Amino acid sequence: MWRGLGRPESPKIAAVLIAGNWKMFKGAHEARSFTTRIRNLPVRTPGVDVVVCPAFAALQGALEGLGSDSAVRVYAQSVHWEIEGAYTGEVSAPMLLELGASGAIVGHSERRQLFGETDDTVRRRAECALEAGLAVIACVGETETEREAGKTEGVLARQVSFVPAHEHLVLAYEPVWAIGTGKTAGPDVAQETHAYIRSLHPAPILYGGSVKPENAAALLAQPDVDGALVGGASLDPASFEAVCLVAAEIVAA
Ligand code: PGA
Repeated sequence: MWRGLGRPESPKIAAVLIAGNWKMFKGAHEARSFTTRIRNLPVRTPGVDVVVCPAFAALQGALEGLGSDSAVRVYAQSVHWEIEGAYTGEVSAPMLLELGASGAIVGHSERRQLFGETDDTVRRRAECALEAGLAVIACVGETETEREAGKTEGVLARQVSFVPAHEHLVLAYEPVWAIGTGKTAGPDVAQETHAYIRSLHPAPILYGGSVKPENAAALLAQPDVDGALVGGASLDPASFEAVCLVAAEIVAA
């Protein structure tokens, strides 16, 4: 089970991590009302580290809604591999830290497929973020074609080999065919794949891909599933809260 990593100052308690990836949804105003609503959620979900990942433009709004004493943390959806420079459109780790963000996702499959992210840029982004003091969620996952061709393990081994090992880094296994499709890797497939990734890398491993309140318990109950990266179901505060409450039940069981 996950060891409460992710924020340098956080106590190392047995925990799962539930991260909501809002993608390109929710501007600053909506982010602020969402986090105002969930600011006290961790009080009801002991053992669960709750993270939201708004778009860059909504980070400040999300942080304002949480105020200064919430245990909910805010991560960006990407971060650049240099601390400053001529990189139009990018945002650096020191900029995120200055705002009050605690971490960043790197290597999401949408970045890999639509924006030219490579294994090497994932590695560079992760290394720079970790060195600057951000926590990192590094995403890996095979496409449907790769799975059908029996290439899942090879693809994951290659992707994972580019991810640095660090106490503030967690992996997220997100089979590309399960993202936003309503298709979920069944708990058995998730467990088998997580166990394989575990044999390659020491980091805790989140599962992502159509996680919702109805399937979260079965996925999180798997021994090698240490949390979830939730897309669509994290956009509605009620369903995001429901996933976090399910996670708390699993931790308590
Ligand atoms: P989904 O997205 O839950 O909507 O499938 C997960 C993700 O892309 O992180």
